[in-house]
Amino acid sequence: QQPVKIAPSILSADFAKLGEEVRAVDAAGADYIHVDVMDGHFVPNITIGPGVVKALRPHSQKPFDVHLMIAPVDPFVQAFAEAGADIISFHPEAGPHPHRTVQLIRSLGKKPGIVLNPHTPIAMVDYLLGDVDLVLVMSVNPGFGGQSFIRSQLDKIAELRRRIDATGRQIDLEVDGGVNVETARLCIEAGADVLVAGTSTFQGGPAAYGPNMRKLRGLG
Ligand code: DX5
Ligand code: ZN
Repeated sequence: QQPVKIAPSILSADFAKLGEEVRAVDAAGADYIHVDVMDGHFVPNITIGPGVVKALRPHSQKPFDVHLMIAPVDPFVQAFAEAGADIISFHPEAGPHPHRTVQLIRSLGKKPGIVLNPHTPIAMVDYLLGDVDLVLVMSVNPGFGGQSFIRSQLDKIAELRRRIDATGRQIDLEVDGGVNVETARLCIEAGADVLVAGTSTFQGGPAAYGPNMRKLRGLG
């Protein structure tokens, strides 16, 4: 088994110095840079758009894992692709034709990801597993950092692990929300291979980013 990947969510970074923060988590061992895009409509918060992704792009060579919490999705995919996103994930509830959105992301040369809210059944992604490169399980309701991990999602992670393995395809199984040292271990045991971590990466300031991520990997 590969060591779990860590994707710091820059939602918990200091927004007054985002470039520096991205460089710091990159140097401290981040595998992906997780970017939470919220529109104040699909979720009750507003964060960042493609302009910020473009401005941050030169600050790291790591894959930019862009999590779109917006509706509609399709009109904005190209802007995020051009801004430098590598993985573009969206929620199936955000539009009528998720498969078309997957195709759109792929047609732009980017990796499509599909996101399951805590209430969203696995059946929503069954017919997309042949086409996506990432499945993201929300272990909080999307909208804010710093919420508590919803434990019912562990079963969903374990079942998705089985279904992904059955495809024989390389698909990241990522978990987002309330990931700390304790819940990280449960996610890894359930079969997750990427952990999004906002609060638990950025707490303690830059000197702590490396040790924080090592602890989440179960190494420290
Ligand atoms: C929630 C976002 C998460 C969030 C995670 O809507 O998708 O990425 O920033 O934050 P923590 O790790 O603090 O729960
Ligand atoms: Zn996220």
